[in-house]
Parts: sequence; C-alpha cells; structure tokens
Amino acid sequence: MSRPRTPPAPAEGGARPGAGTPAPGPGGGPAIVLQGLTKRFRALTAVDDVSFTVQPGTIFGFLGPNGSGKSTVIRMLCGLIAPTAGSASVGGFDIVRDPESIRERIGYMSQRFSLYEDLTVLENLTFYGRVYGLRGAALEARRDAVAGLVHIGDRLTQRAGTLSGGWKQRLALACALIHEPRILFLDEPTAGIDPVARRELWDLLFQLAGEGATLFVTTHYMDEAERCTEVGYIYLSRLIVSGPPRDLKRLPGVTPAGTQRFEVRCLAPDGTSLPTRGLVILRRMPGVRDATIFGDAVHLLVDEGVSPATLRAAVEGNGIAQAQVRPMGPSLEDVFVALTAAEEARRRAARAGGRA
Ligand SMILES: Nc1ncnc2c1ncn2[C@@H]1O[C@H](COP(=O)(O)OP(=O)(O)OP(=O)(O)O)[C@@H](O)[C@H]1O
Ligand SMILES: [Mg+2]
Repeated sequence: MSRPRTPPAPAEGGARPGAGTPAPGPGGGPAIVLQGLTKRFRALTAVDDVSFTVQPGTIFGFLGPNGSGKSTVIRMLCGLIAPTAGSASVGGFDIVRDPESIRERIGYMSQRFSLYEDLTVLENLTFYGRVYGLRGAALEARRDAVAGLVHIGDRLTQRAGTLSGGWKQRLALACALIHEPRILFLDEPTAGIDPVARRELWDLLFQLAGEGATLFVTTHYMDEAERCTEVGYIYLSRLIVSGPPRDLKRLPGVTPAGTQRFEVRCLAPDGTSLPTRGLVILRRMPGVRDATIFGDAVHLLVDEGVSPATLRAAVEGNGIAQAQVRPMGPSLEDVFVALTAAEEARRRAARAGGRA
C-alpha cells in the first residue's frame, strides 16, 4: 500500500475509539453545546461569540456566506483547533479539556476531505477502520456495513482516484462512518455533486438521523437547509439566528408588519412561463418592496395595499396572457436575506455611533 498523502484529521493523537460509541451527552444531555465560542487568527476574528445547542438525533444545518466561519466552528468542535475564548462540548466532552475523547467518538468529513486516491475503495475503508482501532472480523463487518449503506459495494476494487465526484463523496462519508460515530460533522458534503447524488446523500443522512445519530452539516443549498431539523446562520463570524426552519419563518422582521408575500406565475398564451418578463414589470410597480425569480415564478414582498387583482392587472397584457397570483410564506432564503439586512443595518448604526 502506498503512503497516504495526509493523515485523516480525526486520527490526530492516535485515538482509539470503541465501535458502537455511547449516546451523546452524559445523562442524555445535548449532543453539542457552544457558549460564546470565539476564534481569532491574529487580527481576524473568524468566529465571534457563537452560542447554540444541538439536541441528539437532530440534523443541524449550518449556513452562511463564504468566509463566515462555518469550517472554523466545525474544526473547533472536532477538537482540531483550540478556541480563543468561550467553550463548547460535543457528546458531553469539553473541546479544550478532552479533544481526544471527542475525536474518537465523532465522524468528520472535512470540506476538502482526504481520500487516498491511489488506494482502492476497500483499502480506503480498511485504512480508516484501522485508524479507529478496528481489526479482524469487527473491521470486516463495519466495512461491509458502511459500503452497503452508501451502495459502494460493487466498486470495492476501484481506485478511489478514478471515482466520479459523487462516488468520492460517498466513499468519504463511508470512511467517516466506519467507527459508528453518534455525532457526525459534514462540511459541505454535497458540494459539487449532481442533484440525484445530492438527494441520495440526503436520504442517507435522514436514515442516519432516524437511527439516532446527530448530524452537523454545512451547506450553501437552501433546499438542503429546508430539510434540516434546525438551522443556524452565521454572517461575518457572528451567529445571526438559529432554530427550526418553521419558527425562523415566523420571526418578526422576516415579513415586516404591513407587508405580504405573493408568488406570481406569468404565462404566455401557449402556457409557457415568462418569469423574467414578469419580474421586469413587477419591480417597477409601486408598493413592491422585493421581487426575485424562484424557478418559473416570481416571489414578491409587497405593501399590504397591493392586492392580487392589482398585480394581475399590472402584469397581464405585455405579452403575458395570464398571471396566477397566490399568497405564500417566506422561504428560508427570505429569512436569511431579511435578517442579514437587519444585521448590516445594526452594524452600520453601531459604526456610526462609534461602538463597532
Ligand atoms: N488557519 C487560519 N489562519 C488564518 N485565517 C484563517 C484560518 N482558517 C480560517 N481563516 C479565516 O477565517 C475566516 C473563516 O473561514 P472559514 O473557513 O471558517 O469560513 P467558511 O464559512 O467555512 O467559508 P466557506 O463557505 O468558503 O467554506 C476566513 O476569513 C478565513 O480566511
Ligand atoms: Mg468552509
């Protein structure tokens, strides 16, 4: 076997976990707790005073723009880098006092996961299994189990380097699961894979959560966020909000008082959808605060006085034969857009007041 390029992160410190690790937190406490967690890299504050709790069996989706601090939070929670301030526990273990116990018990698929490309699928699984102290029949059983779970059983002799992106992702997930961790950190597990592979991977995540695992998943995909039990949104190092998607959509400020949301479908005489044409017209209408294309429809945030009839009257004609208007609730994207704007305004005000 050739030398691995880089050692897998969870193996740091030569940890030797037992398979079938215990449930999260002692006494059935939360799986993950962050309290004022902060990380500074010299002058840069990458993670600023972040606090939240993740209960066992949850799929927690962690979102935020590039460079907001998601991976840095994960690396602290996995015991790979120390926080500058604040504290956190994973599975009941403190990330500063007991990072080894954490690394033994968690699965971690990093954003740039390391498979050993010149090794076969089976050799990769074997390698990671051994890192976690599995040997003999136990190793074989876990290898079979995870290969079955990600449906990679008929590719065991294929070199990892020749797998397509989606299959590499699956293999990386299988490697992260080899020691049956009860808490899994997945940093953008579906980046760059096709929609079918994404859906299959999410089916798998639901299966794992259904079996009691806790999943902490970063993603830039809103449809994935909508599927999570809870989501957290971090913006420029600070957590803006966290909670179940349904609760976040009801937060004051997401749909401001005196406004309402509509979905408008603009149809040509032959029934074709013309969202772009509709968007141009709707954006010019008085009382329209925000208009965005979603799929083949336009999503609108409008003043209360703007009725479906007004919208239809404005849009119909102009090559649009029919406008279908229906009221709708906010999407998670709407939530994040609204709360980010509010946070920006708060920061501007703080700067103006000389407090930032
Ligand atoms: N080891 C490091 N040294 C210095 N700066 C770092 C280090 N690691 C991360 N950073 C900085 O911390 C900030 C947060 O980075 P992080 O990788 O956590 O963001 P992210 O939210 O995961 O972004 P992405 O969505 O692009 O993956 C960035 O400004 C990044 O450049
Ligand atoms: Mg990242």
